[in-house]
Amino acid sequence: MTSIIPSILVPNKKVFLTNYTGLGDSVSMIQLDIADGKFVPNATWADPKTVSEVVTTDIELHLMVNDPIAEMKKWFFVPHVKRVLVHFEGPHDIAETIQKAKQTEWEVGLVLNPGTPTTVIGDFVNDIDIIMFMGVYPGFQGQEFIPETCNRIAETKAKGIAQPISVDGGVNEKTIPTLIKAGVDIICPGSAVFGNDKTPAENVLALQRLIAEVSA
Ligand code: DX5
Repeated sequence: MTSIIPSILVPNKKVFLTNYTGLGDSVSMIQLDIADGKFVPNATWADPKTVSEVVTTDIELHLMVNDPIAEMKKWFFVPHVKRVLVHFEGPHDIAETIQKAKQTEWEVGLVLNPGTPTTVIGDFVNDIDIIMFMGVYPGFQGQEFIPETCNRIAETKAKGIAQPISVDGGVNEKTIPTLIKAGVDIICPGSAVFGNDKTPAENVLALQRLIAEVSA
């Protein structure tokens, strides 16, 4: 069954605490978006000290930064970090970044923006634990889902890739059915969980019900 890892992309500590506590015990892992304002035109709040004091669920770090190795080093001491998601794109050496990430206890995920050919996965398939496809160009929540993402997921699945496939960006009640049909294993909704007048926990529950319905 497809699992949900809500994506927290926030401007400050106050919004982080509101979003995180609003999840209650509805999920076992959160995705923390870390953007430097250079790799993407947005800079997020993500303070390792606060996160280590507050968060009791597992955490995957989604690094939308020009220097992912420097960013990773800030999080080594945070106990609940279990996975780091690094972009193929950007001015860093992706092979070096993946090798550095593999020296940690964390799982390592490769993230592809919508325009990056899925063929690049082949170069790293023996080094990564998960593949995440972006359903939007990263940086902000509430953007329009790029439908081609479903074909990219399906064609990667069709190649018999062993790793789980995750999708992030534009995931909501409208796009979940086609994403599940394409074979996605994990979805990372942002505004569908944190962007309406229901509590995040209520939104997660509603999306879990939808997944069960669509998967039946
Ligand atoms: C996009 C971020 C996503 C974002 C998803 O820049 O990497 O994780 O928070 O938000 P929605 O689900 O609203 O597209």
